[in-house]
Amino acid sequence: MKLILLGPPGAGKGTQAEVLTEKLSVPQISTGDILRAAVKAGTPVGLQAKAFMDAGDLVPDSVIIGVVKERLTADDCKKGYIFDGMPRTIAQAQALDEQNVVIDAVLSIEVPDDIIIKRLGGRRTCPECGMIYHVETKKPAKEGFCDGCNAALIIRKDDETETIKNRLETYHKETEPLIDYYRKQGKLKEVGGEFNIASQTAEVFKVLGL
Ligand code: AP5
Repeated sequence: MKLILLGPPGAGKGTQAEVLTEKLSVPQISTGDILRAAVKAGTPVGLQAKAFMDAGDLVPDSVIIGVVKERLTADDCKKGYIFDGMPRTIAQAQALDEQNVVIDAVLSIEVPDDIIIKRLGGRRTCPECGMIYHVETKKPAKEGFCDGCNAALIIRKDDETETIKNRLETYHKETEPLIDYYRKQGKLKEVGGEFNIASQTAEVFKVLGL
């Protein structure tokens, strides 16, 4: 199965992608995670992406399209995959269509901006394995440390309030038009994102018929 998870920053795309990866036994392709790893490793892609990411702006389409094209050649993509945070622009969606990537369904998770600002302010991330926590809704067993690898949790640089506002503006301008793009292709499935994580997962499974 090939799925796209669409929604504003902090909608819960990463959280739901983790659950769906396990359920469907296909990899999660998070362009955000790929770019953060590239920044950490200091690769040419990372050097190009860092300033855009820190400011909450989109990384240029040409960089993303190249990174994703390469990722899709890996063996683990043969049975399908879950795109988390890709495509983010009409040009990226058209690039997938041109590469004959046939998507089965696009899951749009919509959450109001005021809830997003609260959620992202409380998010904590493991810098080693990428596991996501929240200070109120998804606490680790030992405060401040990852359950999986025991690394000290961090606050992502782009989770500062002003940067979150810019990410939301960019989402409404550049990414929201994809909702109509995929509705016209008959692939759109919509879920509200205001539920708690467990109820949201139940909704996601329901609309996807899982
Ligand atoms: P990326 O990493 O993709 O960031 P994002 O889309 O802004 O998504 P987030 O990871 O912030 O949120 P999410 O929806 O995954 O929510 P999460 O599950 O973590 O991209 C980062 C940057 O990279 C971009 O700004 C851009 O610069 C660049 N980039 C990446 N892809 C690109 C592309 N294709 N083109 C151009 N540039 C690109 O949940 C958030 C928090 O809320 C968590 O703490 C979670 O525990 C909590 N939570 C989740 N669900 C619920 C719920 N139902 N109830 C309560 N709390 C919840």
